[in-house]
Amino acid sequence: MSDQLKRLAAEAAASAELRSGMKLGLGTGSTAKHFVDIVGERIRAGETYLCVPTSEATRRQAESLGIPLTSLDEAGELDLTVDGADEFDPGLNLIKGGGGAHLREKMVAANSRRMIVIADASKRVARLGAFPLPLEITPFAQGTTVRAVARVFAEAGIRAEIRQRHRPDGSPYISDNGNLIFDVANDGIADPASLADRLDRIPGLVEHGLFVGLCFAVYLGAEEGVAVIGKKT
Ligand code: A5P
Repeated sequence: MSDQLKRLAAEAAASAELRSGMKLGLGTGSTAKHFVDIVGERIRAGETYLCVPTSEATRRQAESLGIPLTSLDEAGELDLTVDGADEFDPGLNLIKGGGGAHLREKMVAANSRRMIVIADASKRVARLGAFPLPLEITPFAQGTTVRAVARVFAEAGIRAEIRQRHRPDGSPYISDNGNLIFDVANDGIADPASLADRLDRIPGLVEHGLFVGLCFAVYLGAEEGVAVIGKKT
């Protein structure tokens, strides 16, 4: 059922936001996958899009659908990025990175005129943090970086437990960029902007999964239809 709601959210975002000729950022994950399918369908119907994928998994899906791809360097500013999220709060702050792709996702979102999130109701929270915060960390001096992260959470008064992410076979999870992923289980992030700001200053923490001020609107798929939350125009 949840997968149907993800597809509904993707369809609503596509019909409201997509215009042939756009340069698009393609998100990563089980929700964004539906949007990529729809872009493929639109291209088969004769529309044109030039797209930047946010992960190797999305690149493979897009290639299999015949979607024209380019790099962010080549594309410059994108018209629109549509992506999923692990959590969003009433201020449209997000936690992303459940799929370990948040570095490229944030770079693509930050270089898009608008970033739209598609989600089902399970992603809507009053306060971020029930979903452990993903971190992408360099293998070099990983212990030093993890200690710096622990200090930042302690200073912010947030109880935190930092765990390295592993693959099902027990090997370390390696991101598309060759870095490690850690997840911070915590007791709630009352001020995402301030925590993001502190985490931004840690060398070796390549990127964290807090997206502050990047999301323009959320298309929320629910049994009774799709609600659009937070759209300003
Ligand atoms: C990928 O790293 C993530 O940011 C995903 O966008 C996020 O985890 C949402 O994924 P699902 O749509 O699969 O829940």
